[in-house]
Amino acid sequence: MEEFWNKRYDSESYIYGKEPNVFFRCKLDEITPGRILLPAEGEGRNGIYAARCNWEVDAFDLSVSGQMKAMNLADEYGVQINYKTGSMDNIPFAGNTYDVVALLFAHWPESLRAAYHQKLISFLKPGGFLILEGFSKLNLQYTEKYPQIGGPRDIGMLFSVDEIKSDFADLEILILEAKEVELSEGENHKGTGHVVNFVGRYNG
Ligand SMILES: C[S@@+](CC[C@H](N)C(=O)[O-])C[C@H]1O[C@@H](n2cnc3c(N)ncnc32)[C@H](O)[C@@H]1O
Repeated sequence: MEEFWNKRYDSESYIYGKEPNVFFRCKLDEITPGRILLPAEGEGRNGIYAARCNWEVDAFDLSVSGQMKAMNLADEYGVQINYKTGSMDNIPFAGNTYDVVALLFAHWPESLRAAYHQKLISFLKPGGFLILEGFSKLNLQYTEKYPQIGGPRDIGMLFSVDEIKSDFADLEILILEAKEVELSEGENHKGTGHVVNFVGRYNG
């Protein structure tokens, strides 16, 4: 998996672009800046946006190539983020710390998904928010027409509203919907697709 992503990121260009995901940006803009954790941060577009908005950013990913590109992007914008290589199996940060945990297109093997999601709840402070956008199971119907939309082809790695509701049952649901979306994020998220959007609050 690590090799797969290192190879994917081994290019000059940012495969998901340098700008943040739109759902993430809109939701983050509604919250007073504090501390944010971004698991599976890739090339850094979302964490660097948060840092530009005065958030204190911790991030991690399996991919050292993703980390290097993120650090270059941070330099480009003149901001700092604390980005470690690491895995969801062994998250390199402390729990009960964050005002926001944000998962953008972070897809896991089906057998691990629920445990990974539940683990992330323990990283939120009381009152903290979990923001998620990821491809829904219906996205598979869009990939023929829009091959550049991206997303796993394994249906078990794609999300449903019911799975997200159950994984994050300890959070108060503020937004939970599956919907069609137009993505224009680099060369690898381009076209019409289908996502699950979620915002939940941990009330302690
Ligand atoms: C589709 S990319 C999304 C990157 C970024 N969140 C974004 O939206 O630009 C998925 C990322 O998940 C990372 N990843 C996959 N499995 C992981 C794991 N178990 N622990 C940490 N990162 C993981 C990959 O290395 C890859 O960078």
